[in-house]
Amino acid sequence: MKGIFVGTKPSYKVIIGSRALTQVGSLIEKTAPDVQKVLIVSDTNVAPLFLETVKKSIGIKKIEVCEYIFEAGERSKNIDSIAGMWGVMAENRFTRTDAVVALGGGVVCDMGGFAAATFLRGIKVFQVPTSLLAMVDASVGGKTGIDLKEGKNLAGAFWQPSMVIEDTDCLKTLPDDLFTEGLGEVIKHAFIMDRDLYDLLSQIAEEGRADKIREDDLLMEKIVSMNVSDKVSVITEDTLDNGLRQTLNYGHTVGHVIERNSNFTLAHGVCVAKGMGIIIDACEAAGTLDPEEAKKMRDLITAYGLPVTDDITPEEAVEGALNDKKKRGDTISVILVNKIGTSKIKKMSEEEFLDFLKKGKKA
Ligand SMILES: NC(=O)c1ccc[n+]([C@@H]2O[C@H](COP(=O)([O-])OP(=O)(O)OC[C@H]3O[C@@H](n4cnc5c(N)ncnc54)[C@H](O)[C@@H]3O)[C@@H](O)[C@H]2O)c1
Ligand SMILES: [Zn+2]
Repeated sequence: MKGIFVGTKPSYKVIIGSRALTQVGSLIEKTAPDVQKVLIVSDTNVAPLFLETVKKSIGIKKIEVCEYIFEAGERSKNIDSIAGMWGVMAENRFTRTDAVVALGGGVVCDMGGFAAATFLRGIKVFQVPTSLLAMVDASVGGKTGIDLKEGKNLAGAFWQPSMVIEDTDCLKTLPDDLFTEGLGEVIKHAFIMDRDLYDLLSQIAEEGRADKIREDDLLMEKIVSMNVSDKVSVITEDTLDNGLRQTLNYGHTVGHVIERNSNFTLAHGVCVAKGMGIIIDACEAAGTLDPEEAKKMRDLITAYGLPVTDDITPEEAVEGALNDKKKRGDTISVILVNKIGTSKIKKMSEEEFLDFLKKGKKA
């Protein structure tokens, strides 16, 4: 198993490897010896697969286990679920030294983290992500929260976990479309900051193994670790999401608009892939991205089963981006990759962004 140190305040470790679920109890005991009770938060898809293993590993350590299982899906990511978690912890007299264990995808990680951030003004949380998206993105970085009926992720808190435990075996039961979706963020990391990851992924694709990476335990451990390291290196330099962390939004400015316009019927990672494709076209048309490099980028996205185009118009994309909360002041921060492995933030006015996208669309 691999351990990656995250130097935020407070700092913590991300443990990655096959069979890590069986170690959850001993890792909690080592990291937080005062924990007497844990609330395992999970959903109706993940609990039948992994809850028993985690319960057993914690039970052996004589730590009392309570559970809160909610209906799987983004629709559950609301204040009622959080109130349910608070209720179980209050009924069972949890104290400030006890902990939440979030076992599941990004929805579970976001909510388990938020329940922990707010119960008794903050107790420990151990993130145990089981989807690819949650492993490489949602569980690391300390962003927690819920959706409101007015919009996604509108209420939440920055709350760092005590540890993140990633068992790559969990990925084997993940439905294909969800695995592919997670690869959208993986490819994004390769493009914005990790040429080695790009080289690895493109080599696998050239060998015709792009649809078989999950079968190779060591390879999966390596890919997940590289991605976690990428995300960690960005967030430790920018814990509160002001500057550098914005580069993680590559493909997201337009991607979010496509996602919203589809009424969330299109998966997030698919929309990010489309958003990256549109920015690649625009950078190529603007002459800042070499056509050969642009082709390599498109080829990688499609090799892993993701799309690079969408019929959204530049006008719709700009209009949507202006409504997005990520807009600061009256400019739009657009993340550009002009060379695989590096990225930069360019502030554009509404007109500049429209012009940029229009040229890309024409090309
Ligand atoms: N906090 C952050 O920084 C951050 C970053 C990115 C995304 N997110 C959030 O993450 C959420 C999306 O994450 P997600 O795609 O993991 O969603 P999810 O938690 O809904 O999981 C997707 C589906 O996969 C199932 N699942 C999870 N692991 C499984 C496994 N190993 N085997 C079989 N089924 C499994 C779940 O039950 C669910 O049905 C969104 O709410 C998003 O806002 C947060
Ligand atoms: Zn994303």
